[in-house]
Amino acid sequence: MKISIVGGGYVGLVTGTCFAQLGHDVIIIEINAEKVRAINNGKPPIYEIGLETLLNQHAGKNLHASTGFDTIASADIVFICVGTPPKPDGSADLSYLESASSSIGTALKNNSSYCCVVVKSTVPPGTTEKIVRPCVLKTSGKTENEIGFAMNPEFLREGRAVEDFMHPDRIIIGSNDSRAGKQVALVYQGISAPVIDTGLSAAEMIKYTSNAFLATKISFSNEIGNICKHLGIDVYEVMKGVGYDPRIGSLFLNAGAGFGGSCFPKDVSALISLAKKAGENPVLLQSVLSVNEQQPHRMVALLEEKIGSISGKRIAVLGLAFKDNTDDIRDSCAIPVIRELLQNGAQISAYDPMAISNMQQIFPEIEYCPCAADALAGADGCLVMTEWPEFSRLDKEFDLMAHRIIIEGRRILACKGTDGICW
Ligand code: UDX
Ligand code: UDX
Repeated sequence: MKISIVGGGYVGLVTGTCFAQLGHDVIIIEINAEKVRAINNGKPPIYEIGLETLLNQHAGKNLHASTGFDTIASADIVFICVGTPPKPDGSADLSYLESASSSIGTALKNNSSYCCVVVKSTVPPGTTEKIVRPCVLKTSGKTENEIGFAMNPEFLREGRAVEDFMHPDRIIIGSNDSRAGKQVALVYQGISAPVIDTGLSAAEMIKYTSNAFLATKISFSNEIGNICKHLGIDVYEVMKGVGYDPRIGSLFLNAGAGFGGSCFPKDVSALISLAKKAGENPVLLQSVLSVNEQQPHRMVALLEEKIGSISGKRIAVLGLAFKDNTDDIRDSCAIPVIRELLQNGAQISAYDPMAISNMQQIFPEIEYCPCAADALAGADGCLVMTEWPEFSRLDKEFDLMAHRIIIEGRRILACKGTDGICW
């Protein structure tokens, strides 16, 4: 099939590249000309395991990128993958989605056959029906017989996005007409997973609910962990025992510095905003965020408990990405920690295997080191912020510190003599 993807970021690029791997002809339409050049040269602008190999195989063959929308005129299906970032009040900013919809509609004026427009971006329930559909129909001058609409949320974890795309738990297809739904199902042929057909708004709500539930599991584990810490109990032993109950499940019970990334904080905030607009008081969701916001402060408080005032002290921060195997720092827990350390007068030496250049844009003033050992040399304390597997091997590197005070925000170190945020 001829597929156009609008937005070549984390989701759009992985989705487009994987569709090319399934044998489709893919065009990625991306506003940023530098990203377009990189994609056409087979070089992903982001780090994602397995992506470069696949992109190399398909770039210039059945995958191309462009800044223009004209190729949509011959597309069988168009996926909208532009960002939907939070506005200051927590609600989703749909301005990119609106402008993408109107550009798609204008380009579809020249499409002579049926085309299905699919929203993959995370959007509040009602958006595909009430914003995307009227906008595309108006700008294209076409009818519902010529253009179909669907909502197909993504469940890609960064760092495992290619794997998640190729082996999904489920494929959710929301549509209000069966032709559109069938068109979406066709592009996933070759992938073995249950396909759940549902309405447009239900598909939109499934995405928010899934992410809010996962975020709730993490904040719940963190709250239990904070209690366990006072009681001298290892929360990881507790959650191991708890997770054997299939009604609970063993995944996403890792207590630590809190959840970050481009999805959980933003999607829980958007759901809270939706609830409030509907006249509800979403106390549980608000607590999920407030537990999460406190965890980074707990890291700094624990450090102060160990070393006293941190003013003038050298503090090593290991891990800047919001999780392992990505260079993404969006809403990383390392950000509030570094901010608080700086406010309290610390001197920071930071290391991350992949995210240094991204963090330099936010904190140009701190020292970035090429390896963990350099960041640790002479440090008065160390905070481990990301679950990078390479940190599990660290041990003698900590002897380079002025004082071996190590606080883990992620349960990743194998060496002895560390303190955990919740254990
Ligand atoms: C996606 C989703 O779309 C978001 O709703 C979801 O919750 C998380 O995943 P993501 O791919 O992570 O977002 O965002 P980003 O990496 O910022 O990618 C968006 C891309 O769209 C960027 O490359 C941006 O340049 C591009 N873009 C944005 C356009 O091409 N056109 C626009 O009008 C706006
Ligand atoms: C998430 C969803 O998992 C995915 O399905 C999609 O909807 C996009 O959003 P992502 O944000 O890329 O994926 O990563 P994820 O692995 O879910 O981790 C999110 C954050 O939670 C990270 O900061 C991670 O460190 C943290 N986390 C995860 C925990 O603190 N404890 C856990 O047990 C699991």
